[in-house]
Amino acid sequence: MSAIPQDGQINNWLKWSAAELSLTLEENTREAEWLLSSLLNCSKSELYFQENELSPTQCELLQDWIRRRINGEPAQYIAGWTEFYGHRFNLNSSVLTPRPETERLVDVAIHSLQEFDKPNVVDIGTGSGCIAISVAAEISSASVLGLDISGGALAIAEENAALNKITNVQFLQTDFLQFTPVEPVYDCLLMNPPYIPINEMDILMTEVRDYEPELALTDHKDGLTFYRHLSNMAKKWVHSGGWLIMEVGLGEHPQNVSACFDINQFTNKELIADFNGDDRILKVNVI
Ligand SMILES: C[S@@+](CC[C@H](N)C(=O)[O-])C[C@H]1O[C@@H](n2cnc3c(N)ncnc32)[C@H](O)[C@@H]1O
Repeated sequence: MSAIPQDGQINNWLKWSAAELSLTLEENTREAEWLLSSLLNCSKSELYFQENELSPTQCELLQDWIRRRINGEPAQYIAGWTEFYGHRFNLNSSVLTPRPETERLVDVAIHSLQEFDKPNVVDIGTGSGCIAISVAAEISSASVLGLDISGGALAIAEENAALNKITNVQFLQTDFLQFTPVEPVYDCLLMNPPYIPINEMDILMTEVRDYEPELALTDHKDGLTFYRHLSNMAKKWVHSGGWLIMEVGLGEHPQNVSACFDINQFTNKELIADFNGDDRILKVNVI
């Protein structure tokens, strides 16, 4: 352990935090900067030009944050926020931390929605609202509904819509696997469901397994429950000519999900790669 700074100088606390984090993390300096700038509500570069010092309360809080990070808690949960698609999203233990690969889903959705005048969009398993809110922010004429079974997640999603001043998004608490809409009014259905097979939960990184909500990670079966259900119900949600855009996992998961849609009512099935070249999005046209 390195010696705890005896004053409030930011530079000293930055060095101390990076040294402590280096015991367990490779990206120790980047994470120390991120946590400290979150705590002080400033940018990373401002950290190096701050004249203010940390108050005694902030020094104690930072020590607590560093201890939690060393114990494996993700930095975004500790600081209570992350950035996604250029927007700030508040987080707590009720929601999954939005992932960079999910930004690809938002890209594909925005591109696909260009063909509709005032698109009607539903986001299944909205969590923090990151997908629904990002799409609503980019397409002001869209009406977006974010749906989740978790009341805790929807409270955060509502908070995030207000935080980002997005008014063309609404949220609904319901179980996707039980709910049937009255009419297929949607132009596009977006979905990043719990897709980790139950038998792979043990091999997840502890950061994920111990801190992210199990409800957001696994379907407690083979990781295909939500896709299979959607392949049977798509025509109840999305009108003819509309799109289903889904995030998929790694390994054989993309092909297994794609196979769920090997039935007549779907055409133009396309797996789309992320920026690492991995197929992470499945886009399907409903006929
Ligand atoms: C993988 S997370 C995705 C969260 C967010 N859309 C994102 O991309 O970061 C899956 C979400 O599905 C929700 N969920 C799980 N089971 C559900 C169900 N039966 N009906 C609706 N939502 C469900 C979870 O609460 C969680 O928020």
